[in-house]
Amino acid sequence: MAIRKQSHTHQKILILSSGGDSPGMNAAIRAVVRSGNYHGFETYACHDGYQGLIEQEIFTMNPSDVAGCIQRGGTILRSGRSKEFHKKETRDKVRAFLKRKNVEYLIAIGGDGTYRGATLLQDEGGPKTIGIPGTIDNDIVGTDYTIGYDTARNTAVNAIDKIRDTSASSGLYFLVETMGRHSGFLAVDVGLAGGAEFILTPEFPITIPTLAKRIMAPKRKKQSLIIVVSESDSPGRSFHIAQALKLLTPKFDYRVCVLGHIQRGGSPTTMDRITASIMGDMAIKGLMAGKSKCMTAMQSGKYLLMPFPDPNAPSRCLGNEDLIKLNSVLAT
Ligand code: F6P
Repeated sequence: MAIRKQSHTHQKILILSSGGDSPGMNAAIRAVVRSGNYHGFETYACHDGYQGLIEQEIFTMNPSDVAGCIQRGGTILRSGRSKEFHKKETRDKVRAFLKRKNVEYLIAIGGDGTYRGATLLQDEGGPKTIGIPGTIDNDIVGTDYTIGYDTARNTAVNAIDKIRDTSASSGLYFLVETMGRHSGFLAVDVGLAGGAEFILTPEFPITIPTLAKRIMAPKRKKQSLIIVVSESDSPGRSFHIAQALKLLTPKFDYRVCVLGHIQRGGSPTTMDRITASIMGDMAIKGLMAGKSKCMTAMQSGKYLLMPFPDPNAPSRCLGNEDLIKLNSVLAT
């Protein structure tokens, strides 16, 4: 029989999810609530990220409140990006409210923006904070993996497999746009796993004339063609690329498929559920060990706590072109 530890009886934790939602966030919430309960904490939560704190609407989370959520996409706490929380006077009110409620710890699931908010709140005298990295972009400095990434890339690869069927049957050439903001992680993995002919990332751009030349290369005799395009800083850019390619390679017909928010939904993969469960428990243990202003992270296959990334540093980006080069060998 498991022995219940009660070392932190009645200390209060608040959990929230913030920024873009990602599959697996529910598994992390479940782990925080249940591991916290096991170790004697009282857990509270709010809806809609920092907006819920601004509205001063918090509620208790008991182990039974997270039953049946591990397999659900999105986040049962809902999420959001709050501009209001950037204001010091707003955070002052939140801090005073949390003090009145005796909330000593905050566990924030999200990305860079989420950590920036949590750091400011703690530095101004608010609760001690630990972050859990959740975003489909996999772009947080200090961790090789963020919760939701695996589900998103599987969703996108499933889509590419379907597009391949129609491309091979119709002879239409496709540009498939993935999310990922300024980082090409999703695009590269999805392109390689989907057998894409070309992969365009923000880190290693290819000019349109070069791409057109490669498409026209005499040794390319394939009926179907898929170009995976990372959205970069202009979602929808695939439409412009398709138009430009049509002008340079008029004998081909192009179609565009922007995968968009489909990549953010869906039941989390086993990898996302396990990673989220381990990280949720780690966050509780981190607080118990007196850690704060750090996030749960994975580096070279090992789990550890890392300081929050420098708020002024750019997001994590592809460090090398290795997989893009491999893809160009395998896609010929
Ligand atoms: O950061 C996650 C993400 O899905 C990015 O890949 C994408 O650029 C962005 O969020 C979309 O944001 P929104 O949901 O606000 O349109």
